[in-house]
Amino acid sequence: MNIKSYQPRKLSIPVTELEQASFCQLDDNLRSKTLEEEFKSGVKWQKVPNRYLKMSPEEIDFEINRMKSIIGSKLYILGHHYQREEVIKFADTTGDSFKLSLEASREKEAQFIVFCGVHFMAETADILTSKDQKVILPNMAAGCSMADMAPSEDVEDAWEFVSSVSDNYVPITYMNSTAAIKSLCGENGGLVCTSSNADKAFTKYLESDKKIFFFPDQHLGRNTALSLGINLDEIKVWNPFKLNGGLSEIEIKSAKVLVWQGHCSVHTRFNVDQIEMAKNDKNAKIIVHPECTNEVVSNSDYVGSTEYIIDVVSNSKSGSVWGIGTEINLVKRLASENPDKDIFCLDPIVCPCATMYRIHPAYLLWVLDGIGAGLVINQVEVDFETRINSKVALDRMLEL
Ligand code: 13P
Ligand code: SF4
Repeated sequence: MNIKSYQPRKLSIPVTELEQASFCQLDDNLRSKTLEEEFKSGVKWQKVPNRYLKMSPEEIDFEINRMKSIIGSKLYILGHHYQREEVIKFADTTGDSFKLSLEASREKEAQFIVFCGVHFMAETADILTSKDQKVILPNMAAGCSMADMAPSEDVEDAWEFVSSVSDNYVPITYMNSTAAIKSLCGENGGLVCTSSNADKAFTKYLESDKKIFFFPDQHLGRNTALSLGINLDEIKVWNPFKLNGGLSEIEIKSAKVLVWQGHCSVHTRFNVDQIEMAKNDKNAKIIVHPECTNEVVSNSDYVGSTEYIIDVVSNSKSGSVWGIGTEINLVKRLASENPDKDIFCLDPIVCPCATMYRIHPAYLLWVLDGIGAGLVINQVEVDFETRINSKVALDRMLEL
């Protein structure tokens, strides 16, 4: 595209970002209510048949167990660590997004893979499984506000412009992005990464003097680049609401890393005041996810993916005190699995990820009932063309 004809797209704020605070509460009881009650939260839910609205948690539990035993080995349920307790207990495997994509790529037997997580994770599972396996997302409204901050067309335009200014850039996308962006990365020599392997992904290209254009999380991009010795002034932010990302050609040519201006609305709630309070009041060790701001990361003792957080905290000494900067369902689970430690969330307000939280157990039951009746409800299917290059980008990640 000619630079003179380039126009920024209309400003769009992801719906999920606006809805993020809908489940926030002061009470730390995260127990699921009936779907009918949860519908009052003010977020967009996918419509379900009425019979699921009033079912009690006990009835739902009983029915899910019954359907799981009827469907048997044809079914494989994957659960991300941020899922609520009443859902994750039904998962055959739990993990962070890297572990779950690995599990999906290794699962050969199951015909139905039900992904209790968010849309981009289900898309990834579809790309990594065979054509005969069907990947199902229980609630199609379970997106990711960060992924929504990088519409594929905007990323394609930005990539076209940046690569026309310097042919030394390689595109890397965080797993939290659409399949179309993963495909763009595969097609242009780049790859996908997660928070467990972003450092390896960056190193692969920086070592051969390449520059990186990273989508869509500016914080993971900045934290990773800084941890690898890149200076702050060599990292530039691409603002999708400004012409040419708000960057001059000189800035693009002199930067080593460009980061898309996206963020996670859950992890940007953490701040340095919370860390200081946890350190001063409780002498806590601080561990946070790399989607937090650099200020938070650099004031923490440990930083890493959800799987890493679980590993460090679970293997710490009895009696240790942990202030954690990640999603509340995982923090609560860690606290209940480690009663000999004092584990708490840095944020005093209880704010689950509003999109992960949309996987209510009634939705899980709904899709299982569908399978039992020979119906595939909510299949997530990536089209053939997008699949080819996004698989290239994912395979490059799996080879890291
Ligand atoms: P993990 O890669 O740690 O699973 O994180 C995924 C995610 O969405 C964090 O917000
Ligand atoms: Fe997306 Fe943040 Fe939720 Fe992860 S925690 S799924 S990045 S909104």
